[in-house]
Amino acid sequence: MSQFAELTLEGKTYQLPVLEGTEGEKAIDINKLRDLTGYITLDSGYKNTGATKSAITFLDGELGILHYRGYPIEELAEKSTFLEVAYLLIYGDLPNKEEFFDFENNIKRRTMVNEDIHKIYDGFPVNAHPMGVMSALASALAVFYPGSISAHPKKDYDVVDLQIKRLLAKMPTLAAWAYKNSQGHPVNYPKNKYSYIENFLYMMFAVPAEDYEQVPEVVDALDKLLILHADHEQNCSTSTVRLVGSSHVSLYSAVSAGISSLWGPLHGGANQEVIEMLERIKDDGGNVDKYVAKAKDKNDDFRLMGFGHRVYKNFDPRAKIIKKACDNVLSKLGVHDPMLDIAKKLEEAALTDDYFVERKLYPNVDFYSGIIYRALGIPTNMFTVMFALGRLPGWIAQWKEMREEDQPIGRPRQIYTGAVNRAYVPMEQR
Ligand code: SDX
Repeated sequence: MSQFAELTLEGKTYQLPVLEGTEGEKAIDINKLRDLTGYITLDSGYKNTGATKSAITFLDGELGILHYRGYPIEELAEKSTFLEVAYLLIYGDLPNKEEFFDFENNIKRRTMVNEDIHKIYDGFPVNAHPMGVMSALASALAVFYPGSISAHPKKDYDVVDLQIKRLLAKMPTLAAWAYKNSQGHPVNYPKNKYSYIENFLYMMFAVPAEDYEQVPEVVDALDKLLILHADHEQNCSTSTVRLVGSSHVSLYSAVSAGISSLWGPLHGGANQEVIEMLERIKDDGGNVDKYVAKAKDKNDDFRLMGFGHRVYKNFDPRAKIIKKACDNVLSKLGVHDPMLDIAKKLEEAALTDDYFVERKLYPNVDFYSGIIYRALGIPTNMFTVMFALGRLPGWIAQWKEMREEDQPIGRPRQIYTGAVNRAYVPMEQR
C-alpha cells in the first residue's frame, strides 16, 4: 500500500501520509494539511473524519463486527460479566482472580454517596427526567471530590484510579436513587453482600415492606445488556467525553457531558423513543405498514426509532444478541409483551422494503433493548439511564486513553460564510 496520498491544489502537488490500523482501516493523515496548503477539510457530522487512533474498540459496519480490546462482543456477552468487561476496557486486559477481586472490592467500598448529594434530589421536580438528574449529579461529583480537576492518568495514577472506581461505584447508586425519588419512595442504601448488578437491582426495586429476592434471570439479562452497551468507539457521547475532557476538566465533568449527549433521541435516547413508538403503533391498531410508510415519507418527520446507524450498514451485532435474549428472558420470566410481536412485525416489514434496504437501515442496539428493560421492571424513562450505566466504562476508557496520550485540546476549524467588513452605524441612523 502506498505510504502517501497525492493532493494537487492550484497546480501544486502535495504528499500526505497514509496510515493503516491493525484491522486494516486506512486513513489519510491531514495533521499538516493547513500548514502545507492553507486549506482545511469540511465534513459535517464527521462522517469521514477520524478524530483519533484508539486501541479500545473496533467495529466494522459493513460486516457487523464489534470487538472490545480484540475480544468479539458475542464471546464477552456469553462468557464474561459487566464488571470484568469494564476492567478489560479501562485497563486493556482481562483481569486475573486477584486483580478482579481487588477491583470489585474497591468498587464495593465506594458505592455510598455523600449525604449532601442526597439533598440535591429534593431540588428536582418529581417528574424530572432521570437523565437530567444523572448529568447534574455526575457533575456534582466533581465538586464533592474536588482535589483532582486536571489529574493525569499516568502522572497522578492513584488520584485518577480513585476517580474511576468512585464513578463506577456511585453511578448505580445515583441512578437508583433518581428512580426512587421519582416514585416518592425511600431510597435503598447499597449492600456489599450483593454483586454489582444485584446491588443496582436491590437499590432500584427493594421496598421496606418486603424482603428483596434476587431473580438470577434478571441479574443475568441486565449484566448482558450492560456488556453490550459498554463501548462503541467514537460515537456522539464518547466523542463528547473526549472533547470536553481534552480541556483537562475532571473525569466526572467529562462524563456528565457524555450523559447529556447520550440523552438525545438520535443517540441513547432512542431506546425510550422505540417503546413510545411501539406503544403508539399498538394504540393505533398495530398497523405497522402505516408507520413504515410514515417513516419513508419525506414530508413526515416520523422516523423508525431504533433503526439505522451511522456505522453499521449491516445488522448491529448487539441487536442480534438482544433480539435473541428478548425471547429467552421473556419466556424465563413468563412475560408476554405485545410490543415484542409489534417490534418483530415492524422489523420484518422494514427489512423487506426497498427504502430501508437501499439505505441499509437495520435494527440497532436500541430497537429491542427496551423490551427487555420492560420485562425486568425498569420504567421507560430509565432506559437511557441504563444505557449510560452500560457506557460508563467505555467513556472512562476513552477519556483515559485521550489523556494518557496527552492529546491536544479539541478545537475544530470552520469555513466562515457570514457578512464581510461591515462598518458600525449608530442606532439612530439604522
Ligand atoms: C445509537 O454511533 C454510535 O455508535 C451510536 C450507538 C452507540 O452504541 O453509541 O450505536 C447508539 O445512538 C444508535 C442509534 C439510535 N438512534 C436511532 O435509532 C434514531 C433513528 N435513527 C436515525 O435517526 C439515524 O439512523 C441515525 C441518527 C442513527 C444515523 O443517522 P445518519 O448516519 O446521520 O444517517 P441519516 O440521518 O443521514 O440517514 C440516511 C438516510 C436518510 O434518508 P435520505 O436523506 O438518504 O433520503 O436514511 C434515512 C434518512 O432519512 N433514515 C431513516 C432512519 N434513519 C435514517 N429513515 C427512517 N427511519 C430511520 N430510523
